[in-house]
Parts: sequence; structure tokens; C-alpha cells
Amino acid sequence: MSPFLLTRTLPDGTTGADLRADVLNGLTRTPKELPPKWFYDARGSELFEEITRLPEYYPTRAEREILVARAAEIAAATGARTLVELGSGSSEKTRHLLRALRPGLVDYVPVDVSESALTGAAEALTEELPGLRVHALVADFTRGLALPGTPGPRLVAFLGGTLGNLLPRQREVFLRSARSLLEPGDALLLGTDLVKDEATLVAAYDDAAGVTAEFNKNVLAVLARELGADADPEDFEHVAVWDRDNEWIEMRLRARRDLTVRFPALGLSVPFAAGEEMRTEVSAKFRQEGIAAELAAAGLALSRWWTDEQGRFALSLATAV
Ligand code: AVJ
Repeated sequence: MSPFLLTRTLPDGTTGADLRADVLNGLTRTPKELPPKWFYDARGSELFEEITRLPEYYPTRAEREILVARAAEIAAATGARTLVELGSGSSEKTRHLLRALRPGLVDYVPVDVSESALTGAAEALTEELPGLRVHALVADFTRGLALPGTPGPRLVAFLGGTLGNLLPRQREVFLRSARSLLEPGDALLLGTDLVKDEATLVAAYDDAAGVTAEFNKNVLAVLARELGADADPEDFEHVAVWDRDNEWIEMRLRARRDLTVRFPALGLSVPFAAGEEMRTEVSAKFRQEGIAAELAAAGLALSRWWTDEQGRFALSLATAV
């Protein structure tokens, strides 16, 4: 058995308080909105894993293709002795990187808000890569991180295209805080989905089997369980639209009739007019120039850029300037 350590930095009760604040903020404004992080309870995480296997949802396969093809180059370019992964989830794609980074790699520091995802991933990894030290961190990486004192050089990875789920201002804050984790000689590895034709993008977020619709509506189940909300998923329709000005996909839930959602835990009633939409996610798509500019604004220099064969998804390597 390899060493496995887990550190909790999320005080109990934070999640509940955050959700309340997001509901009070987001559902009392026009247009209504909720941050996408509330999709990911156990059921939502399961549905997301199902999405990654859908024929229409190409990003996961495209990113895995790049990781498999470029892992050795990434290892050679970074010489990382510690891999920190922000939002590591199941760590499924990361194993390609971990294998390439061995034997130089000493520590793997997966960071996620889900303790069950972290323990599950660590169990599989310590078995597969004996001797690797796994120091898991239960933490919200958007809130500033204290990393364990592991050896450098450090490679900080943020994969899956999750940067695109942040709004531009949040991306700026996130990239700056990622930058603050780097010392000279360290690097950032960033996975981002790329701008492409509208039909491909919309299909990826509105699949024929309806899994993404179920994933989107799962947020209503989270609101029901956590806050006693009485929203009926049957009363809402899944919507995915391409916003060509912002170059992002928006997922929304559209009320099928006039209705009111009650939140007894908050003393709040939220009216929806028939056809009214609540935004539940943005998923921004990027171009190389835009990524380079956003990295530069955060004090990071783009040093390598890799895409899959079809040019659908990109991995960027950046260093601190
Ligand atoms: C992989 C978390 C970035 O925006 O594509 C999948 C989540 N939302 N289908 C993405 C998601 C709808 C996703 N992330």
C-alpha cells in the first residue's frame, strides 16, 4: 500500500450556506441564474460520467487523446516532482499523465470538493502506481489554497474544460490564484474546449438520449433535498443555446407554465412565468489567442499548445512570468 493522506479544508456547513446564498442571489434577479457547481451531488456526478460516454459529447475523448499523445512531452517539459490537480474528480484521465511523470514524480495532490471522489480515486491510484504519495485535499479551489509542502518542480493541472464554466471575471480571479501557486520552474496545464461549428456544440449539450437534460434538471433535485424546494422537473424543459457573441454554450431550464417554486428553508417563493428561463451553466469555448491573453493577464506565459487530431480541444502549458 502506498501512503495516502487526506486533508479537509472545507468547514462543515459551508456548502449549505453557499447554496443558500447562491439561491437568494441568483433566483431573485432577472434573468434567473444558478452556478453550475450545484449539479454535482452523487447523482449529478454519475450523470456527468454518463455524459462523457455519449457519442455527441466529444470533449472528454478529445482531451484524453491529447493526454495520451503528449504525456511524455509534458513530463519532459516540466520534470514535475509534484502534480497538483484542481477539480480532480475521478482522476480518470490523469492516470496517463501520472504514468508518464513517473519515476520522477513523488507526490500527487488531487484537490476536489468531493471527499468520496478523492478517496475512490486515491484507492485506485495507489494500487496502480505503488510508491506514489497521494495527498488529497478536500477544498474549494476557487477560494484560495494552502498546498502541502511537497517537492518542486510543481505541475498544476486544471483539466476537463472546467475553466469554461467560470464567467470571464471569475476566470481572471481563478487564473491569478493558480498563478500564485507557482514558483519559478513550475507550470500550469490547462484543458479547454475550442470554438467550433454551432451544430456540434449544441449537440454536445443537448444529446439525443436526454442524459444532459437529466443532468441539468438534477439541480432541481439538489434544491429539493438541500432546501426543501418543491420544483417539479416535469415543469421544466432543458435548453442549450450557443451564444455567438460570448462564444459560450448556455444551459437553461425553461418553465413550461406559470409556476412558483417555494423554498421553505429560506422563506422564499420564486415565481416563474411560462417560458421564463433560468441559466444553470455557461460553458465557454476558446481560441488560442484568447487563452494566451487571459494567461498573460494573470502573469502566465503560454509555452506549449496541443490539440487533438480534429482540433476540437486544447491542452495549454504555461509558466509563471
Ligand atoms: C466538463 C465540467 C466543463 O462544460 O462541458 C457537460 C460540464 N455540462 N455537459 C462542460 C457539462 C453539460 C462540463 N465540464
